[in-house]
Amino acid sequence: MKPSTEPFAARQSGTHLGEFSAPARVNLIGEHTDYTGGLVMPMAIPFSTVARLRTVTDGRYTFSTDMFESVRSIRPHDRPSSTREWSDYPVGVLLELEQRGVEIPPFSLHLSGSVPLGAGLSSSASIEVVTAIALLAHATTTLQAEVIALLCQRAENNYVGSPCGIMDQFVVTAARKEHALLLNTRDLTFELLPMNKGNLANCQIVVANSGVRHSIAGGDYGVRRREVEAGQAKLRDRFPDLRDLGDATIAQLTACEHQLSPESLKRCRHIISENERVREAREAMLAGDPVRLGAAMTEAHASERDEFECSIEEIDFLVETAVDLRGCFGARLTGGGFGGCTVNLVNAADVDSFTAALKAAYREKFDLALETYVCEAVDGALARNAAHLNSSQEKR
Ligand code: GLA
Repeated sequence: MKPSTEPFAARQSGTHLGEFSAPARVNLIGEHTDYTGGLVMPMAIPFSTVARLRTVTDGRYTFSTDMFESVRSIRPHDRPSSTREWSDYPVGVLLELEQRGVEIPPFSLHLSGSVPLGAGLSSSASIEVVTAIALLAHATTTLQAEVIALLCQRAENNYVGSPCGIMDQFVVTAARKEHALLLNTRDLTFELLPMNKGNLANCQIVVANSGVRHSIAGGDYGVRRREVEAGQAKLRDRFPDLRDLGDATIAQLTACEHQLSPESLKRCRHIISENERVREAREAMLAGDPVRLGAAMTEAHASERDEFECSIEEIDFLVETAVDLRGCFGARLTGGGFGGCTVNLVNAADVDSFTAALKAAYREKFDLALETYVCEAVDGALARNAAHLNSSQEKR
């Protein structure tokens, strides 16, 4: 696809109906646990996807973006096949909303934004959720956070064809500023954990972008997911009361280790131990203890590298370098893996020297420029678009 060069305003007509936005996310800890009923602890970060809605006179739904040239236009209640282009993300969400019976008047929706693409910071979920919010507002209705998150996940699983879990869509929808969101992905209950308790008030979250592109639609994520699900099925055969890996213990895994392939065994060991680390991270957050939180993060990285095997050389280098720098309490690969970003917990007074040293080391080792983002926790899409949605008439 060719990037679009024509300015947005030149391609738009109709009356402006509203502007909506959704953030990106970084996951602090709890990786690859969100499709087996486990725990995750992400927060929303200050990158945004913006959706602008306009009226149309042709009775159709039209999707455009600053990011790519192609424009897509469909009729209400059409069921078009996916095109493998960017527009599958918003169109998939539209189709899910129609399927729920939401009546959406015709519109033109234009997407723009600042979320780095392919960096593992959930540009996809940000597009899906902002589309859902904009179209719900246009239909003068609203839905609960978990319903929005689930329908966006279904759009991505079924229409885009990426086998992601629920974490990204949920946090992009429901996050609250100054908090991380601890989500139980089995029942979608969550707890908001303050980011500024005790000594955590003196820390910042630094995201470092390796520049190596990450994609869930690429095969590795799906391969890992199948290895995990195969292991989970064996565990359930042996322990019929077990609902999913979110409930399993290392002792149970050891009891059936000979029934699992070596790969499934390692993947499941990562997931079971990762759920424990999320619980430990929760305690550390509540105690305001960056040393404990950072240790859990760095241990999580070792498990992603050695057991889940979803890291890459560049990311391992960034983590190993980071944890030796002054002021860094912990570091790990964040998101799906096989590229993307690291997340670092850093003493605020040391952030400048930390990022400078990390960039210098990365350039020296790989001859690559490293982008770093110092991120506070921001509101998710529901909180930031509340004014639009409060004017909605009906709750489904
Ligand atoms: C991607 C997926 C999420 C989750 C993470 C790994 O971000 O979209 O659902 O599985 O990878 O934790």
